[in-house]
Amino acid sequence: MIRAAITAVSAYLPEYILTNQELETMVDTNDEWIMSRSGIKERRILKDKDKATAFMAAEAAKSLLKKKGMAATELDLIIVATVTPDYQYPATANIVGDIIGATDVWGFDIQAACSSFIYALETGARYIESGRYKKVLVIGADKMSSIIDYTDRNTCVLFGDGAGAVLLEPSTDETGIIDCKMYSDGSGRKSLFQKAGGSLHPSSLETVTSKEHFVTMDGQSVFKVAVVKMADVAEEMMQRNNLKAEDIAFLVPHQANKRIIEGTANRMGVSMDKVMLNIQRYGNTTSATLPLCLYEWESQLKKGDNLILTTFGAGFTWGAVYLKWSY
Ligand code: UT7
Repeated sequence: MIRAAITAVSAYLPEYILTNQELETMVDTNDEWIMSRSGIKERRILKDKDKATAFMAAEAAKSLLKKKGMAATELDLIIVATVTPDYQYPATANIVGDIIGATDVWGFDIQAACSSFIYALETGARYIESGRYKKVLVIGADKMSSIIDYTDRNTCVLFGDGAGAVLLEPSTDETGIIDCKMYSDGSGRKSLFQKAGGSLHPSSLETVTSKEHFVTMDGQSVFKVAVVKMADVAEEMMQRNNLKAEDIAFLVPHQANKRIIEGTANRMGVSMDKVMLNIQRYGNTTSATLPLCLYEWESQLKKGDNLILTTFGAGFTWGAVYLKWSY
């Protein structure tokens, strides 16, 4: 059986840092509340109005190709995980391919809210496993600031912008993506969603004035399900692969809330020094959280390290991936 391996990782973060102190001047909030409830200190914002998700995704892709010494034309497939595509259509993956000069490539977007990247990783891995694709670029990128209402304190303190990319290639040894389990449950769709802009509530003057194009979230309902489901799926991944806590080099969790991450680590019996945590610096970058973690911890990873990636997001969507690091 052909196994997919992550063979390179890179990222892009916008320069502008939106701190809790600046948010205190925008809405009725404070650093203590934000830190204690979410663990977030600052987040990055793409300020340039002429640049969006495809730009950040392409920057991450370009730096990955440079690092790997690879031409864009060698890519077989680009999958972009995002909830903030540049356009409803065409796909952001098409735009990225054009920017980086990936001729003869095909690509598409995947949207599963905060689980978009893990869904895309599983999808990309299956293309590699099919034997027909040798180089699949999976990018998680979101310009969350484009759908956040900066007068709504329930959401504006949580999200940030960013992009991360991984290259998938056929594994040449025992390492690579070993197991995946994904879930979705649409009954939770109204706990976290963007009401207008789709075919049910097309954009109109009314949807704009009612602020229906922004993220709407019932934080507590999402929290209650997230804290259980993210831990459940991570534990399931350990059990079905006979992994004990000491076998795990790192837990790579979606960065939505430090308390949800701690709950998952606790259930797995994994200590926090083995948890990739950068929510304090970037907030919730939705599709970019997992590749951003891999990028920042890359130098600490060793070939053969067991990693568990896990997410929970709107939909509801959630899942976990077990992989052995390949380099
Ligand atoms: O990534 C996708 C999935 N998303 C998530 O997993 C997010 C899940 N939810 C959460 O992380 C948490 O629910 C939040 C961080 C969003 C909120 O934490 P919480 O402990 O659940 O707070 P809460 O919603 O229960 O709000 C407590 C209080 C409320 O005031 P009252 O009604 O008790 O008077 C809120 O109005 O805190 C108030 N509040 C704030 N206060 C200061 C809400 N937002 C803020 C704020 N600053 N930014």
